[in-house]
Amino acid sequence: MAPEEKLIFAQSLIREAGAQLRSRSRSELKIHLKNHDVGDLVSDADKQIEKLLVTAIRKRFKGQSFLTEEKWVSYKPKTQTWIIDPIDGTTNFITWKRDYTISIAYYEEERPVFGLVYDVEADDLYLGLTGGGAWKNGERLATLPQEKPLSRCVADVSLKSVALLKSKYGIQLEKLASHIRGHRSRGCASLCLCRLAAGELDIYLSAHLKTWDYAAAAILVNEAGGVWGLPFHDRQALYSTSVPFLAAGSRDLYTQIVNKFLTVNRI
Ligand code: IPD
Ligand code: CA
Ligand code: CA
Ligand code: CA
Repeated sequence: MAPEEKLIFAQSLIREAGAQLRSRSRSELKIHLKNHDVGDLVSDADKQIEKLLVTAIRKRFKGQSFLTEEKWVSYKPKTQTWIIDPIDGTTNFITWKRDYTISIAYYEEERPVFGLVYDVEADDLYLGLTGGGAWKNGERLATLPQEKPLSRCVADVSLKSVALLKSKYGIQLEKLASHIRGHRSRGCASLCLCRLAAGELDIYLSAHLKTWDYAAAAILVNEAGGVWGLPFHDRQALYSTSVPFLAAGSRDLYTQIVNKFLTVNRI
């Protein structure tokens, strides 16, 4: 089965799921805590959308493997794998009903083929196609500039990540803060990475991303000429559970951050 057919199918499926999610966000949601953690929410809509996506893909294509956040089906190593986050930015979805996405990545033999990230409320569809570019709403994104001084850069990092990166890895974030123009915290990893690929954000740093948070959007970063990595882990940790993650708009920027600010306690 040619990947093009899967891409066409996934594009229409993600829009259909987005339309359902948009209307669900306006109705009453059942919300639960995961592992009694007040910062880790899941709603019935997360599960509903995951089920919709997996059921539709399974029905259309035989023999597929799935890696999904809400674990409606479990991952078995196979050559054709769909990595799905049914709602990335669940807290945004629940609290302010914007800045949340549906993220679908398709990998063959653990290599990325395409990634789709749908910013549901903005109705923006991002596509990363390995070897075929990074796209937003059908328009190709420009290649990112390879030279940009830190003093003109904006980073995205969450308060929880700051705390963890400092306590666990001894990262010098105050030093980084004093060198960059500013920072924001949007609460949706996939959207941050798409914005980075679009040149609207320069650095994205997180203490604990999971595969489904970045599997699709990282393809856009690659294709836009940006660089991402798991600075304290082997990059092949694609299917590992939770890892610190860094993306930057250029190799130079990525290297500067790793060498100047992530130097303490590297493993
Ligand atoms: C979360 C978001 C958030 C990131 C967390 C993720 P979820 O995903 O991407 O921005 O900081 O690490 O878990 O739980 O909303 O799908
Ligand atoms: Ca979650
Ligand atoms: Ca997520
Ligand atoms: Ca999620």
